[in-house]
Amino acid sequence: MNHKIQSLSGYINEYQESVDQPEKFWNGIAESFHWQKPWDNVLSWESEGPNVKWFENGKLNLTENIFERYLFTHANKTAILWEPNDPNEEGRKISYLELYEMTCQFSNAMTSQGVMKGDRVVIYMPMIPEAAVAMLACARIGAVHSVVFAGFSSSALADRINDCEAKMVLTSDGNFRGSKNIPVKALVDEALEKTTCVEKVIVCKRTKIKVTMVEGRDVWWHDVIKNEAIEHKATVLDSEDLLFILYTSGSTGKPKGVVHSTGGYMVYTYYSFLNVFQYKQNDVFWCTADIGWITGHSYIIYGPLLAGGTTVMFEGIPTFPHPGRFWEIIDKYKVNQFYTAPTAIRALQAKGLEPLEPYKLDSLKVIGSVGEPINEEAWHWYHDNIGKGNCPLVDTWWQTETGGIMISPLAGITPNKPAHASLPLPGIQPIIVDAEGNELKGNNVEGNLCIKFPWPSMIRTTYGDHKRFKETYFTTYPGMYFTGDGVKRDHDGYLRILGRVDDVMNVSGHRMGTAEVENAINEHPNVIESAVVGFPHEIKGQGIYAYVICDLKGLSGEALIDEIKNTVRKIIGPIAKPDVVQIVSGLPKTRSGKIMRRILRKVASKDISNLGDTSTLLNPEVVDQIIKGAKN
Ligand code: WTA
Repeated sequence: MNHKIQSLSGYINEYQESVDQPEKFWNGIAESFHWQKPWDNVLSWESEGPNVKWFENGKLNLTENIFERYLFTHANKTAILWEPNDPNEEGRKISYLELYEMTCQFSNAMTSQGVMKGDRVVIYMPMIPEAAVAMLACARIGAVHSVVFAGFSSSALADRINDCEAKMVLTSDGNFRGSKNIPVKALVDEALEKTTCVEKVIVCKRTKIKVTMVEGRDVWWHDVIKNEAIEHKATVLDSEDLLFILYTSGSTGKPKGVVHSTGGYMVYTYYSFLNVFQYKQNDVFWCTADIGWITGHSYIIYGPLLAGGTTVMFEGIPTFPHPGRFWEIIDKYKVNQFYTAPTAIRALQAKGLEPLEPYKLDSLKVIGSVGEPINEEAWHWYHDNIGKGNCPLVDTWWQTETGGIMISPLAGITPNKPAHASLPLPGIQPIIVDAEGNELKGNNVEGNLCIKFPWPSMIRTTYGDHKRFKETYFTTYPGMYFTGDGVKRDHDGYLRILGRVDDVMNVSGHRMGTAEVENAINEHPNVIESAVVGFPHEIKGQGIYAYVICDLKGLSGEALIDEIKNTVRKIIGPIAKPDVVQIVSGLPKTRSGKIMRRILRKVASKDISNLGDTSTLLNPEVVDQIIKGAKN
């Protein structure tokens, strides 16, 4: 099967076809997969619901399209190249046949432990091959996985377990991250004190730290697989059966469970992977994300494996034990496509060129960026020093909700333009609108980014709350998917993503709702009220700035600030810890009691020359106090 676009004119034609006849276009791509029963309808779309179905009534199992489909030709090909945290420990090389057998065996084990089709299974694991096996085995038996980033706190884990009513948790004893050995299982134990739905916990041994096993609930991974067969007949699923739930932050409330279903996600992650990265058989692909994020789902696991590719999985962090770690791994495995986040690029750029010196990086053909806007300086540094000026750089824009890359250059095909995500993939119809929803046509326009036509890997609902799904994505501009991002179309018609236009921050490429951080801060007993905004941060893209009204109750301001930061770390995790906490006597509010965030954002960004109209404020005097006490 060959769905790879070969040239710019090929792209232009394919794009046009996909807009003129979307169903015919996706039908052609879906047909190359193995389906147990073909679909009746390519697309059924009803924007009022909104309800979307792709490949309606088609029956399949996604993992058959990774394993059975390739086994005759690919059995001994490497599926996963695993690199441990510590370079002195040996890596693992897992072939398609081995991964297949591990997946089958673990599918049997999960079934023996009582998991059935449709049950939710939370995966809270380090970046080890067993985590990939866990996801694939869920897909194999039709259980719905929900991977929770292992850097989240036990209370964030408990919230997610409760929201999806998980029956099982898959975890490990510990997690090697840089110089740390994080007690993962202990965090699961803490989380399970706040939940009642989990019946079984399967624990994979990784760091050998001591753990407590609860009788009847907790079992070891190596014990449960021991007597299981390495053959397993894949469960036949409907195209619209749930594949996974992944929690992500929005502008209000708690993180929501983004739901993805099977057939459409499979077709789109495969197609986008192949085309954006121009992946060729025998290439080695490395995406540095964690499987706890959508990037890890789609471009460490599903996309590369559906394409029969070789994917690198790295347990550690970019700077341990030295700041050349990424470059060392690229040379070691002769990585051809390297995909990382601007925050990592900026952090490594700050280390200078010396860490690069021992490495050749001559295997690289394509380099990629994802997760946040990449500034031009970082773009050039990455392009010149890592790509050596001759690797196309794909700046890929997409979201947890979109399932796969939506706007991006196709490597070596679309002319490169620094900091521009550039052009939509075939099948993707972006539209720029103004605040009233009028389409801004033509070039040199700036507005809000929506997608006006469904695509196969789009979010189906927010788990357990279809109303919230509709309100979040389809109400601002009725009938269209609203992304929450601002965008500019330049004089050449190339798109440049400008960042979020809602109350979602992007901190080191991690999505974080301001309300979520405020709720965590407000848990501290001395806090009366708080307001959180993002501000430009040299390495992280955005930092977190919190304004807090509190009652010191005898504590010093500094001590309380430390406690507040720790409260957030405990409730959400280290990634949400505010960079700056400023204690204030009041927050600027409108007469209707709404916090004027615009002013807070400007103060946090040191941009106070033009604060705009403050005359409508209830308490204009606090603005001066806040400016005087600003801590940046
Ligand atoms: C931002 C990550 C600019 C954007 C795959 C989006 C980007 C949010 C880019 C989704 C990019 C992602 N350029 N901004 N190339 N890629 N974003 O759900 O604001 O973790 O809405 O998905 O990241 O983050 P999420």
